[in-house]
Amino acid sequence: MSLPNKLSLFVSCAGGVEPLLEDELKRFLPPGVRSKVEALRGGCGVLGTAEDVLRINLESRLAQRVLVELIEGPYRHEEDLYSLARRVDWRDWITPRHTIRVDTVAQRSPLKSLNFTTLRIKDAICDQLREHTGERPSVDTHSPDLPVLLHVGPERAAIYVDTSGEPLFKRGWRVDKGDAPLKETLAAAMLAAAGWRGDSALHDPCCGSGTIPIEAALIACDSAPGLLRRFAFERQLPFSTPALKATWGEMAQAARARIRPPAVPIYASDVAFRMVDFARRNAERAGVAQYIQFNGGDALERPAPKLPDGMAGSIVMNPPYGERIEVRGKAAMTRDAGGSEERDGGDDFFPRLAAHWKRQYTENPAGWTAWMLSPDMKLPSKMRLKEARRVPMWNGPIECRLFRFDLIKGSARKPETAADAP
Ligand SMILES: C[S@@+](CC[C@H](N)C(=O)[O-])C[C@H]1O[C@@H](n2cnc3c(N)ncnc32)[C@H](O)[C@@H]1O
Repeated sequence: MSLPNKLSLFVSCAGGVEPLLEDELKRFLPPGVRSKVEALRGGCGVLGTAEDVLRINLESRLAQRVLVELIEGPYRHEEDLYSLARRVDWRDWITPRHTIRVDTVAQRSPLKSLNFTTLRIKDAICDQLREHTGERPSVDTHSPDLPVLLHVGPERAAIYVDTSGEPLFKRGWRVDKGDAPLKETLAAAMLAAAGWRGDSALHDPCCGSGTIPIEAALIACDSAPGLLRRFAFERQLPFSTPALKATWGEMAQAARARIRPPAVPIYASDVAFRMVDFARRNAERAGVAQYIQFNGGDALERPAPKLPDGMAGSIVMNPPYGERIEVRGKAAMTRDAGGSEERDGGDDFFPRLAAHWKRQYTENPAGWTAWMLSPDMKLPSKMRLKEARRVPMWNGPIECRLFRFDLIKGSARKPETAADAP
């Protein structure tokens, strides 16, 4: 089967990332498609071709999934949704030997049971294939050939095919996770919001499993994020034509051919040597270990990297917070009157980090800028630094801000009494 020339695509992303995704898509999609990219809630709508589906899966650092809309219409009951799904010709997408999985996402839907709704969409697909072929596809909840997504709003519903399969933050290099790894797509969103394109030195002094420096190194190498993984579209009939298979092979080949060494140094460190090992191993699998200088050490003690003349530096990090990822090292310990050390909550970490930065990171003539992701809206007060920007971002369900601090000698001080707006 060949797909229609124009497909209605929904490229999903985390909340707050929509404008960054719109910019990204407009940068790598062909000129004719750029005007057909529109930021919506939770992603971007794109009117594109099958080739654009392949390209977005391969090239987008910010997208979660690339969905093709198959049908859309009004509904009131589950049976309306069954009928809607029956209007799609599923033989265009799979044979009975393929596997499926259906998921439902609802926004202000009057339906009582989403499980039952999901089952009715699965029934519609299976009934139709059985009527035509005598056989029905099986369900595979883990790695289906055809992941189907039903979106139900208050009055209208849409059915999509997910061409990505595993969400796109899974780049294919992570084995070692650490305690609270950032999603690769969120690390990419932090770097995009910081305007970092591999043109200034990068340092993550609390690197954990290495997500930020690895993502940065891949950007600086111009290495496409999808080169190390597989996609659901590779098993779906419309993308299995000889012409599209050849296009996919050429696209991936061209993406491999443009990889080059970064033009800037990238530094990563963590107080936990175990995490530095994880990060190094992840970087090896991503093919960028030789471009990142890994070190162990307390962020409050490591001196600023010495940068080449005229080169600016960016610190990009998500620092430890809460009980799950506690501050360690110097700021986690206090000395009692007898001189012995004991743990405290690490409340001191942020003012001490700011003081360390003021001492260590204000000597570079081209300057350092720090970008910190935190759910703590009062972080600037804690650091006694005036933020230059705060960008709303979601770390999964946690509402965060990406704070920008310009590390300039003497000028970054914030009055301690100022209350922080969210
Ligand atoms: C929220 S995690 C960072 C996660 C990381 N971005 C990732 O994707 O895996 C915070 C990290 O800060 C580290 N850390 C805690 N206290 C530190 C300190 N004083 N100096 C440097 N790193 C520290 C922890 O070991 C932890 O790996």
